[in-house]
Amino acid sequence: MSKLIIGASRGIGLEAVRQLRERGDTVIAAVRSATPELEATGAEIREGVDVTRHESLFGLAEALSGRALEWVLVVSGVMRGQRLGELDAEAVAGIREQFETNALGPLMAAEALAPRLAEGGKLGIVTSRMGSIADNTSGNSYGYRMSKAAVNMAAASLAYDLQPRGIAVGLLHPGWVRTDMTGHNGLIDPPESAAALIERMDHIGMADSGRFWHAPNREILPW
Ligand SMILES: NC(=O)c1ccc[n+]([C@@H]2O[C@H](COP(=O)([O-])OP(=O)(O)OC[C@H]3O[C@@H](n4cnc5c(N)ncnc54)[C@H](OP(=O)(O)O)[C@@H]3O)[C@@H](O)[C@H]2O)c1
Repeated sequence: MSKLIIGASRGIGLEAVRQLRERGDTVIAAVRSATPELEATGAEIREGVDVTRHESLFGLAEALSGRALEWVLVVSGVMRGQRLGELDAEAVAGIREQFETNALGPLMAAEALAPRLAEGGKLGIVTSRMGSIADNTSGNSYGYRMSKAAVNMAAASLAYDLQPRGIAVGLLHPGWVRTDMTGHNGLIDPPESAAALIERMDHIGMADSGRFWHAPNREILPW
């Protein structure tokens, strides 16, 4: 069976594909556009997949008809900064973009692709601890925090709705990772983060479906 990773052109998603390929897994990498680094992994690449263009997700599902997926792991995401007192039209557009990408994108990926998941398969969504309301001790980042809190709620519902098919849902914070998103600031590099995401995906089961994990620490985060 294949593992589908959405958002694998660079950063954590690319590294997850690389590590899964290295251990011999069959991987489908869905991206807007392929990169030489992704091509070098030997994964099956599906281009033209933009999580904000829902027809591209349904098109991918159509292209994969007849194939049972073991995992769908949605890694794609964007982060734009917004500060109180500076919420002009451009900032509001950025908040909408983050909702479309970070919250609605993974939900519509589940809508389109959950039917392709095998019984007992797994759905993973890469979220952020910045979407934790209890963990918010510094404010700011309105669109990013709101969109990740929203996707957390979507995943909590998905866990119930996919339970009858034995599909476990994992909400995975990848750590603070040195990627383009963070301007290459952070505590860990993509290999450590991707290894932690893979470890959690391997580990999660129906007993912990819908939980919000700090993947590198293997701890449950507060909502
Ligand atoms: N880095 C961190 O410290 C950190 C912390 C917490 C959570 N996260 C989350 O981890 C995930 C991966 O982040 P990263 O650090 O690897 O970021 P990154 O290096 O900026 O990579 C983002 C990835 O998402 C893809 N993407 C963005 N918008 C998309 C869309 N509309 N449709 C399809 N793919 C899209 C990008 O593809 P293109 O190349 O086509 O743009 C790229 O592959 C995100 O969900 C992020 O919110 C990261």
